[in-house]
Amino acid sequence: MSIRRALITGASSGIGTAAALELAGEGHALWITYAGRQAEAESVAAQCRAAGAPEVHVTRLDLRDAASVEALVAEVSAQWGSLHVLVNNGGVCPYTAYEDIDIDEWDLVMETNARGTFLLTRAALPLLRQADGDRSVVNISSIAGQVGALQTGLHYAASKGAILALTRSFARHLAPEGIRVNAVTPGPVASAITDQLQGEGRARLASSIPLGDFGQPADVAWIISALASERSRFITGATYDVNGGVRID
Ligand SMILES: NC(=O)c1ccc[n+]([C@@H]2O[C@H](COP(=O)([O-])OP(=O)(O)OC[C@H]3O[C@@H](n4cnc5c(N)ncnc54)[C@H](O)[C@@H]3O)[C@@H](O)[C@H]2O)c1
Repeated sequence: MSIRRALITGASSGIGTAAALELAGEGHALWITYAGRQAEAESVAAQCRAAGAPEVHVTRLDLRDAASVEALVAEVSAQWGSLHVLVNNGGVCPYTAYEDIDIDEWDLVMETNARGTFLLTRAALPLLRQADGDRSVVNISSIAGQVGALQTGLHYAASKGAILALTRSFARHLAPEGIRVNAVTPGPVASAITDQLQGEGRARLASSIPLGDFGQPADVAWIISALASERSRFITGATYDVNGGVRID
């Protein structure tokens, strides 16, 4: 069987790292992007090689910058020429109260999370079309995109709702070509994003989780990996909740 190639954004921390390790363990060739420190991304790349990835590339990506998105896709295209899996994971999550969200912060969140997901997915389509077999896009949305902002900023909830709409729209458009597009909607997961929340706010959020505690990045990563897998070949346009029971309907 040929090696499946996967691109994961925001893979130098949290859920992205856990997803990269999961896909590495299944033998995917990986392209991981980072927005922070290169050393952290290189360390994740080394862990992925040790976990079984036959090949790992590392590129800096700023999802807010269309030129950065285009440059990444050009690099993947030159090196690989095709892609089986795209995980749109990179994102930002300020906890600003809605009265205090200024236009720059609104734009930062919408451009990174919603516009970035759109731009990268669209730019990667020629690569997905070139790949043989099952092709899968996995978008990391959030429970905030389903029920509205709990503790996070309202702009974050809006951007994650947009990701759900993008997921369903791309799924409809791309199904005839056999390219699947699904979303994962995590609830509170321990990571740099939730580390921003401390004190009373954090305690309130923790006590609202029916299963008793924050999830771990690995709790989300295996669902990402399942959706990336050929075994999910009949699943598209779907949303997978990983939220400790915060939303049950
Ligand atoms: N942790 C949670 O509770 C939770 C809940 C729901 C959804 N999510 C989503 O999961 C995803 C991963 O978050 P995490 O919890 O692992 O936190 P994290 O902060 O560790 O990961 C976010 C990643 O996005 C990258 N990123 C930030 N700005 C970027 C930009 N402009 N361009 C490209 N990449 C950029 C960061 O470098 C980082 O690696 C995010 O989309 C987040 O919204 C997290």
